Amino acid sequence: MKQNLPIIALDFSTVNETLSFLDRFKGEDLYVKVGMELFYQEGPQVIHLLKDRNCRIFLDLKLHDIPTTVKKAMHGLAKLGVDLVNVHAAGGKKMMQAALEGLTAGTPEGKTRPSLIAVTQLTSTSKQMLNDELLIGKSLEQTVLHYSQMAFESGLDGVVCSVHEAEAIRSVTSDSFLTVTPGIRLESDQADDQVRIATPAYAREKNVSHIVVGRSITKAADPIQAYRQVKSGWEGSM
Ligand code: C5P
Repeated sequence: MKQNLPIIALDFSTVNETLSFLDRFKGEDLYVKVGMELFYQEGPQVIHLLKDRNCRIFLDLKLHDIPTTVKKAMHGLAKLGVDLVNVHAAGGKKMMQAALEGLTAGTPEGKTRPSLIAVTQLTSTSKQMLNDELLIGKSLEQTVLHYSQMAFESGLDGVVCSVHEAEAIRSVTSDSFLTVTPGIRLESDQADDQVRIATPAYAREKNVSHIVVGRSITKAADPIQAYRQVKSGWEGSM
């Protein structure tokens, strides 16, 4: 099976930093992720600049608001021409459906609607936080599966999850439901603040649809070499 490109998380705060990082990858087809840090500081221009460089783009803004607001926001984001966008599943089914409606209506004629995925539980959420702060008396795994099912029933294309959850998620949704997985590290790397990490090769074994890799590439002494290593582990060519 042809794997999707690894998604490089562009966790930078300025366009200049971002573009000079990408300059190293000239001639390479890239799939990148733009998150709140970069988008809130540089705005939509960053997306246009990345599209000028032929990057595929995951715009990771994790929308979570009342359904009407999310619908209108998605309507606007659809015009940027990105490939993948997301919401928090905790916003509920009506919000997820509204997001999908806004995205569909906002996609210019002749263009493909960006895929829409839902964040289940953030990796920073612990069982204790779930129980004591959010007053949710279930396990993290139960909530992840439940939120995935809600996203599936709302017509979304997939979820953000950990590699370790992907198999169980597919079993309660469908085989083609996207599982976009951060928390990826090379064998030689530090875990940083990620708790449940996996290597690119393990992610391939678990049949996740996409891997998202940040610091293993962006903070590597040689980012190109780290990217190649990630790619070959992911593609099974090493
Ligand atoms: O540097 P690292 O590879 O840990 O970066 C992972 C990226 O994925 C970051 O941009 C982070 O915000 C994002 N992410 C995550 N866990 C989630 C959702 C998104 O690490 N549950």
